[in-house]
Amino acid sequence: MDCVIRHATLADGREDIDIGIQDSKIQAVGPCLAAVGAEEIDAEGALVSAPFVDAHFHMDATLSYGLPRVNQSGTLLEGIALWSELKPELTQEAIAGRALQYCDWAVARGLLAVRSHVDVCDPRLLAVDALLDVKRRVAPYLDLQLVAFPQDGVLRSAGAFENLKRAIDRGVDVVGGIPHFERTMSEGAESVRLLCEYAAGKGLRVDMHCDESDDPMSRHVETLAAETHRLGMQGRVTGSHLTSMHSMDNYYVSKLLPLMRESGVAAIANPLINITLQGRSDTYPKRRGMTRVPEMLAAGIEVAFGQDCAMDPWYSFGSGDMLEVAHMGLHVAQMTGVEASKACFRAVTDTPARILGLEGYGIAPGCHADLVMLDARDPIEAIRLRATRTLVMRRGKVISRAPANRSTLSIEGRPSMVDFRLRRHG
Ligand code: FE2
Repeated sequence: MDCVIRHATLADGREDIDIGIQDSKIQAVGPCLAAVGAEEIDAEGALVSAPFVDAHFHMDATLSYGLPRVNQSGTLLEGIALWSELKPELTQEAIAGRALQYCDWAVARGLLAVRSHVDVCDPRLLAVDALLDVKRRVAPYLDLQLVAFPQDGVLRSAGAFENLKRAIDRGVDVVGGIPHFERTMSEGAESVRLLCEYAAGKGLRVDMHCDESDDPMSRHVETLAAETHRLGMQGRVTGSHLTSMHSMDNYYVSKLLPLMRESGVAAIANPLINITLQGRSDTYPKRRGMTRVPEMLAAGIEVAFGQDCAMDPWYSFGSGDMLEVAHMGLHVAQMTGVEASKACFRAVTDTPARILGLEGYGIAPGCHADLVMLDARDPIEAIRLRATRTLVMRRGKVISRAPANRSTLSIEGRPSMVDFRLRRHG
């Protein structure tokens, strides 16, 4: 073997597992592998997981915080207006430079696959060309999947549908949309039909910003699910955000969830952004605004957590850390039970990998040797500590290392080491 990782704990709970790697693939996974590696890595019981996957991001806007000014109200609408102010000043080089810097952050965080929306409303398609260039450049170490996103509305913004189709022809992977931002509810529904039919004709996946609103009557997810069913696109369509579901009538939702399940529509919540942007005009009680994650999981709907933004017109925080995203999602959705907490870890690993259609993802023989080792003993501890990613591997090569998070105390003449992992007693 090129490499054997010893004594790993896997995200599914198996302990003291060895992982044998040869020719950039995982060859064997099990206890006490007899094979010897040219390189031997002792995990010492640490969690070894398949890499983090971010199912929802905006790489064309990332790290542009403060350009040309800061979002004073902190609202979604001022963010969209701010992005429109910034667009004329964008250059391909600046977008690519910021995106590449972000990809370095992502790799160091064990985040090796990102689905990024890219705005196609600028007829120059500067951001599209910039991110297609970035996608090629980062391919050795990060899977970047691009969504053609008509930020200003595919019907509302003149020429947007033509621009979207040009972006797809240039190599963008997925068809996006934003029905709640069209002029009327009916035009929003029409945009969903238009874009789904176009994607079905091209054999492409769909991922729409859908109902990112506090308006309980914003119900485009229903049309998205119905179109998915009508066009036979089960398993290839995703509704992102779906925040209006937080405010919807419960009886209506009891009908909507089975429709989403039947249609095979996946959902992506973006907890950091939803908790920040939604309920913004409420007084008290103030809505959380995140979609109904535990209820959708219980109904058999795939739910991933995305990061959405990092230091851009909408959000001035973030650093590519999907454990921070899972941590926020777990709290906002009150998913603190053991099984629910594990589901939050899957929402930033296995589930988004399926939504993106990643091939060879996982810790199993035949999968790509892509993995992350964490300074934690299990997925719940990883979320609690937003654990240090001590080692990140891509195609069998170590591409990032970091020291474990320990502090040496000296209190009352008693030197000691602080280890934030839970000590196992008895
Ligand atoms: Fe988004």
